[in-house]
Order: sequence, then C-alpha cells, then structure tokens
Amino acid sequence: MTKEEEKKEEEPGLTDIPGIGPGIASKLEAAGVYDLMGLAVMSPSDLAEMAGVGAAVARKAIQAARNMMKLGFSDGIEYDNRRKDVHYITTGSKAFNDLLGGKGVESRSITEAYGAFGSGKTQLGLTLAVNVQLPKEKGGSNGKAVYIDTEGTFRPERIRQIAQAMGANPEKVLKNILVARAFNSDHQILLVDRIAEMIKEGEPIKIVIIDSLTAHFRAEFAGRGQLADRQQRLNRYLHNLMKLAEKSNVAIYVTNQVMANPAMMFGDPTTAIGGNIVGHASTYRIYLRRGKQGSRVAKMIDSPNLPDNEAVFYVTEAGVTDQT
Ligand code: GTP
Ligand code: MG
Repeated sequence: MTKEEEKKEEEPGLTDIPGIGPGIASKLEAAGVYDLMGLAVMSPSDLAEMAGVGAAVARKAIQAARNMMKLGFSDGIEYDNRRKDVHYITTGSKAFNDLLGGKGVESRSITEAYGAFGSGKTQLGLTLAVNVQLPKEKGGSNGKAVYIDTEGTFRPERIRQIAQAMGANPEKVLKNILVARAFNSDHQILLVDRIAEMIKEGEPIKIVIIDSLTAHFRAEFAGRGQLADRQQRLNRYLHNLMKLAEKSNVAIYVTNQVMANPAMMFGDPTTAIGGNIVGHASTYRIYLRRGKQGSRVAKMIDSPNLPDNEAVFYVTEAGVTDQT
C-alpha cells in the first residue's frame, strides 16, 4: 500500500462518498462542511442546494456518510473512559491553573491566549513546552512538545533558563521540544498533518504550541474583500487542529494577537484577531494583559464549564510563576 492509500483507508473523506468528486467537495468545504460528520448531519435538500446536485444523489451521499461514520451513541461508561485519558499541563502558576479548572492546560482541547504584545503569550508557550515534560505527579504529561513558531520568537536560551530553574537538564529539555518555523499559512497548515504522522510513528507528543495562530493569516489576507477567505481558511485550520487534539489526545495551545476595537467605548478596547471563528473553535479562551507592579492578569473569556474569573501571575526567569 502506498502512503496515500494508507491514509485513505484510515480516514475516509468527502470524496470517498459516491457522487462526491473534488468539485463538489470544494463547494462543501467552502460552505463549512469538511468531513463525513459534517455531511452526515446535513439534510438532503440543503446538500442538494449547496452542492448543486439532484435530491436522489444528495440523499444517497448523506446515507453513505452516515454508514461510514457509524453514527451512534457511546454509553456513559465509554464516554467517561474517554474523558479519563485527558491529561493536563501546569502553567507554572497555581492561580493560572485554577483559572483553567485546577490543573492547567487540558488535552483534547484548544486553549487560546490573546493579548497585546508583551502580555506573556509566548512566555506561557515556552513554559508549557518545558512543563509538559514533567512527570504527571508534578503537573506534566511526561511527554514532548511541538512548537510551531510563525514569528521567529522561539528562544532556546529561554527554554534553558526555565529548565534550569526547575532543576532539569536544559539540553535534555530542549531535545524534547520539536520546533518548526512556519514560513506562511500554507506551511503552517501542512505542519499539522506532519504532527499527526509523528504521533502515529510513536513520538510521545503531548502538547502542540502554535505561536502565533493568526499572524500569517492576518498578513496574507490583509486586503479589503479578503476577510471572508481568511476566515474560511482559518476555520478549516482550526477544525483540523481540533481533530488532532481529539484523535491524538494532545493539548493545543495557540496565541493570538489583538486589534483595537474603535467601536468599544468602555473597558479594554481590544478584540482578538479572527473573531468568532477562533473564539468558537477554542475550548478555553484567555485574555492576557499586564497588571500592577509587573504582574500579569489572565482572564477566562469563555469556557464550556468554568466561570469567567481572573488570575494574577508573573513572568520571571523561571517562566510563568505565582511570584516575582
Ligand atoms: P507578542 O508576541 O509581541 O504579541 O507578545 P507576547 O504576549 O508573546 O509577549 P511575551 O510572552 O514574549 O512577553 C514578553 C515579556 O515577558 C517581556 O516584556 C518581559 O516582561 C517578560 N520576560 C520575558 N523573558 C523574561 C525573563 O527572562 N525574565 C523576566 N523577568 N521577564 C521576562
Ligand atoms: Mg509572542
């Protein structure tokens, strides 16, 4: 079997459905239907309209998608067992961990930090890349980190410092961080597939850090009228990230810039890039800002199960901590 065939066998896509060729598949993708699940939950009339196919073809396609998906229920025990594999990575600050539900950044989910420059987004990423390597009882996941660096801000020196501060061997810690520089958004997108492969090959990757999620997308789709394209690509990318988080049981931490929101008259007039698309895809969304006396403040923005609290933390030579 070639590699291509192998991939196909494992994970059927839209074009594996009878009646759906690449042309229709791209129409569906443009409308936000990326995979069999998306297709399986559609109504035949919506599909017919969206894809420009007859009602009978649409009905058959949806049925085929449902069969291939084995749409069904898992019982409570099965569901609970899946949740039991969830692991956590400490941020380095107890207050910050508490904000995230007690143990830090969670696997099978996307945690997004957005905030102004210098607010600590990258420092948190670097700290997580070290902390993931800790044993479970010390707040880590006993695994490796992948660091996708879009801005050239990954600093081995910082990793060494943070590792040293916790008494770990800096060179060993650096070796367990797989860094890739993404030069544009296409490259950034491709790297996600590569991570899934590495995990399959046995790399014990437990966290994927993307710093920054949005910078390339923002720069490449800067023109007027390109916003819809940008959002669509970003949406698709986030969808792939979520799939990676779910399937490989990894934590995903992404950083995001802010832009001034002139429409807002009170409070902090900043909004995350990518808006609702990123907001909806992120399981935990955190806003970081500078606080009093060199502190930082993290605020939970939306989460499915946690209150919108704030936590005060610090960035020091040792990375993210509770104290100066
Ligand atoms: P952008 O990427 O520019 O949007 O910002 P960011 O949110 O990623 O900022 P980053 O995480 O890089 O935070 C930079 C800040 O962290 C610096 O201004 C310092 O205040 C702090 N910092 C970075 N390294 C150290 C260090 O070694 N010691 C201390 N005390 N602070 C540090
Ligand atoms: Mg940064």
